[in-house]
Amino acid sequence: MIGIADTASAYNPCHGNAAQLVEAIKRGVMLSGGLPIEFPTVSIHESFAHPTSMYLRNLMSIDTEEMIRAQPMDAVVLIGGCDKTVPAQLMGAASANVPCVQLVTGSMLTGSHQGERVGACTDCRRYWGRYRAEEIDADEIDRVNDQLVASVGTCSVMGTASTMACIAEALGIALPGSASAPAVTADRIRIAERSGATAVQLARSGLKPDKILTAKAFENALRVLLAIGGSTNAVIHTTAIAGRLGIHLDLARLDAMGRETPVLVDLKPSGRHYMEDLHRAGGLPTLLRELKPLLHLDALTVTGRTLGEEIDALGAPFEQDVVRPFSNPIYPQGGIAVLRGNLAPGGAIIKQSAADPKLMKHEGRAVAFENAEDLARRIDSDDLDVKADDVLVLKNIGPKGAPGMPEAGYLPIPKKLARAGVKDMVRISDGRMSGTAGGTVVLHVTPEAATGGPLAWVQSGDRIRLDVAARALSLLVSDEEMARRRKQKPLKEPAAQRGYLKLFLQSVTQADQGVDFDFLRK
Ligand code: FES
Repeated sequence: MIGIADTASAYNPCHGNAAQLVEAIKRGVMLSGGLPIEFPTVSIHESFAHPTSMYLRNLMSIDTEEMIRAQPMDAVVLIGGCDKTVPAQLMGAASANVPCVQLVTGSMLTGSHQGERVGACTDCRRYWGRYRAEEIDADEIDRVNDQLVASVGTCSVMGTASTMACIAEALGIALPGSASAPAVTADRIRIAERSGATAVQLARSGLKPDKILTAKAFENALRVLLAIGGSTNAVIHTTAIAGRLGIHLDLARLDAMGRETPVLVDLKPSGRHYMEDLHRAGGLPTLLRELKPLLHLDALTVTGRTLGEEIDALGAPFEQDVVRPFSNPIYPQGGIAVLRGNLAPGGAIIKQSAADPKLMKHEGRAVAFENAEDLARRIDSDDLDVKADDVLVLKNIGPKGAPGMPEAGYLPIPKKLARAGVKDMVRISDGRMSGTAGGTVVLHVTPEAATGGPLAWVQSGDRIRLDVAARALSLLVSDEEMARRRKQKPLKEPAAQRGYLKLFLQSVTQADQGVDFDFLRK
């Protein structure tokens, strides 16, 4: 009996092909001698989940875990795609430890605006920035909007959804070559059929997630994350999945790996191309072939073969310009660097491959916002005291602060500076940023402001120093002054009276533990 976790939802266009995938998985299961039975779970879309999709990821993981455990099934195929769904499903499946295959819905196709190829959502941000700078009008934004989401499927750049698809494949829990096929292609249907057949094979062999999702598999996944210039969100999600198996992902290790793993995949937002181009270039296997010397080749995959055996079974490489060789990287180090300092004692991260090289070493005056509402109220005011070399600081958008750690870390450039042509500034917060965004944006500052991290007591006018090469983030304020501020404005942690919010605020962990609930970690 093969369960199929069906995450179709009219609120989730990223899963708009789920019905077709269910049919294809069923064919694969039945042709292999299994009995397919689909079941629904929570489905989360980035745009339509309030207050933020991340607030619901752990809920979806609980639903997935308990439904797998409660219903009779010998293996399960998980249909995920939009940012939070694949992490939630892998967290749940890791805890349930029933044989499973992850199947992603696949990426959207790209569209075309006045002859320029566009795709969600790196190009959305660029056009929105131009609109804010009054370079284009509302009519044009409407026309671009129609082209950015050209089909069902997940965002077409190396955002969080594409990153998690690649990570699932690198972990060995999704089929080799399955990450990159766009949602509307015949390849996606073939992969779904093969995922069904593979689930039957897993039901027979009894190969469980804990034999696939090992410490070595997670190192392979982090290598891939660094080499694809992947989403910063994937650090949190991968940490959470590993935490379900009692595996601790060390940020220091991630940073050390980043120093020897260049960005090789030329996709937006770090590069030029889209997921459909990566698929034409051979998909993730083309990258794995290049990364082979850095991978743990003995890690098992859902096929029952090792990652090394899967790479050896690939055909000869062919000419393409999406996955670069080691000798010609997009960026000489991994896409993500880990920062530490008195402003982030538990760490912070920056997507250095998508940042402005001129700002990688920068000292500036803080312009602080207390929370998202404060930011919305003041950021576009002509009276805001801000200059291009200032450092924008946003507090209280961490796991407990917002709550749910929304993707508000990509602070907009203040309108008056945008109009003057400023494209990037150093921005710091305890929140997250969409994987489709770029800029000199420091994220996941830990501990967050709402639990008493030093960020809570930053004031406008303070000096802040960022030095990415030295991996340092420093608040140039004395310990005595910080102690005085703490005393003057004591911390009041967020709390709730009832319901999921109460559970969330009581149990959610910080970014360095994956923002999972403490009682769900192993
Ligand atoms: Fe679903 Fe981007 S909105 S992947």
